[in-house]
Amino acid sequence: MCGIVGYVGKRPVVELLLKGLKRLEYRGYDSAGVAFFQNGKIEIKKSEGKLDNVAKQFKENFEPYTNSYCGIGHTRWATHGKPTTQNAHPHRTGHVVLVHNGIIENYQEIRSEILNHGHQPASETDTELFGYLVLDEMNKGLSLKDAVRKSFLSIKGSCSVVVLSEKEPGTIIGVRHGSPLVVAQDPLGGALLASDAQPIIEYNKEVVFLDHGEIVVGTEKGIDFFDLKSGKSIEKKRVSLDWSSEQLDKQGFPHYMLKEIYEQPNAFVDTLNLMIDRFTAKNPFPLAKQPGVELLYKAKELQIVACGTSYHAILLGKYWLEKWAKIPTQVDLSSEFRYRAPVIKPGTLVIGVTQSGETADTLAVIRDMKQLGVPTLGLTNVRGSTISREADAVFYTASGPEVGVAATKTFFTQMLAFLLWAGNLGFNHGAKVSYLFQKIVELPHLLKDCLSPDGEIISEVKNAAKTLFPMKGFFFIGRGLSFPIALEGALKLKEISYVHAEGYAGGELKHGPIAMIDDQMVVVVLAPQDCWHDKTISNLEEVKARGAKILGIGTRGDKMLSSLCHHFVGLPPGVEEDLMPFLLVTVVQLFSYELAVLKGTDIDQPRNLAKSVTVE
Ligand code: F6R
Repeated sequence: MCGIVGYVGKRPVVELLLKGLKRLEYRGYDSAGVAFFQNGKIEIKKSEGKLDNVAKQFKENFEPYTNSYCGIGHTRWATHGKPTTQNAHPHRTGHVVLVHNGIIENYQEIRSEILNHGHQPASETDTELFGYLVLDEMNKGLSLKDAVRKSFLSIKGSCSVVVLSEKEPGTIIGVRHGSPLVVAQDPLGGALLASDAQPIIEYNKEVVFLDHGEIVVGTEKGIDFFDLKSGKSIEKKRVSLDWSSEQLDKQGFPHYMLKEIYEQPNAFVDTLNLMIDRFTAKNPFPLAKQPGVELLYKAKELQIVACGTSYHAILLGKYWLEKWAKIPTQVDLSSEFRYRAPVIKPGTLVIGVTQSGETADTLAVIRDMKQLGVPTLGLTNVRGSTISREADAVFYTASGPEVGVAATKTFFTQMLAFLLWAGNLGFNHGAKVSYLFQKIVELPHLLKDCLSPDGEIISEVKNAAKTLFPMKGFFFIGRGLSFPIALEGALKLKEISYVHAEGYAGGELKHGPIAMIDDQMVVVVLAPQDCWHDKTISNLEEVKARGAKILGIGTRGDKMLSSLCHHFVGLPPGVEEDLMPFLLVTVVQLFSYELAVLKGTDIDQPRNLAKSVTVE
């Protein structure tokens, strides 16, 4: 979704803004722009399309702008109005210039008010209307901060704004009421502000996450915080982030997505180290003591919600939690759960799973449940994110920053979190899980071997992608633990290669989708040697008989399976059934990636997608 960067201080601002926006590109956008003070006036450069179109307007010569130390930048993902240059942010309304992330809901009402005041908005955006509100308040004599505050109180919706005025050079005002805003002090003096921490951490890893209804005022002297409603000064806690700016670079990989798939073994180890305590915990699945563990122990039932890829992780979570911990577990899409009338039994713990910690529908469920007095738990990859502050307790995965829009390593560590919860609770209920934990510890080594660039797996995946990429459509099928991975494989393929793909439980094919099968279709069959293997093979035979091309992913040495496939990717034998999803997902991610490379799509920033979906 939209990205915001703002700076005031001692560093030349134009290059800082462009670099910061580059770091936010992964969020998804369709136009971009920057605004900066130049000789007391604010200059704006913006364009539809990619950020490079804005950078080109400087003709690679930033020399004339090295004396500019205050500005704001924005990447826009169109909501109100088309993704044109005119609608791109920043917007100017007289001496006020602003950027905005989110939606102003009483847009029509504000628009009539603005027109009545004699203003003629130049764009179709709700943002520009807000600018006119601020302009009118400043023209009545209010300071920039008070004008922004008063204007904000008259709008409805979930959004954040960052505003400059030529009447107050060197001051940046930011308000959060919905879409996230992160702020840090520039160690050289000044203030850094952005939609997420990625543009900030190379300057300062101590950041402040604004809460709803808070204002930040940034000047060369630093940052001050105020309550939006009362206008009173407030103290904010600083959060120290353990991400490094090196993690944000591609490090020789052609795409972030590929780099992030290769980072899965390390992300797994880091998450394991973060979540467990092997020295004092007695449980063979030694979850480290933290408030979330207590909530899990108290729960009689679990209701888990998530969106997109995170939803696939919770589906797997259900299998593991029911199998090992014997705890009744319901899973649902956040966007469905929040608008139905669910029956929440006493003793239910509601868990929101969101790698970004900012997904609007998942956060809404957490808020609704809190209002009902239901205990809530979050699982996220981002420290300080909204869910980490709003849920009663939170667990973190340690994937590091994920820049590719398509989730990979964050899904991987979400799966691990569920397996660890299931194992730990399972032991408390008498399950024999010690051997499984030992296998978990060994998994990253195995995975590293599988990912060897000159190994058999990678070469099979590349071959399959090369032969199959002209085909009309893809089904991914699996049963049991492979079913959520089938859904995830299809989602990855759709997202990054724009090819039609569907994920199905193997047993469901004959209930309709099999009508689609002909010799132009590919069926990716996930059939490791587990308790569902033979049933899945029967499903394979059904589609093969109807002409489908088969890409089988299973256990190396499985002659029965490989003889039925046009392409076969063999995974190491002897892997525990519960660990197979980690290997399978890596293969389907790589297959989607290779196919997208052949299609020539924008893999890290697929069209129409945003990394963190902060609107409904
Ligand atoms: C798919 C993808 C999305 C997200 C979904 C939820 O690759 O990234 O489907 O999984 O938007 O995002 P989070 O986990 O941040 O709530």
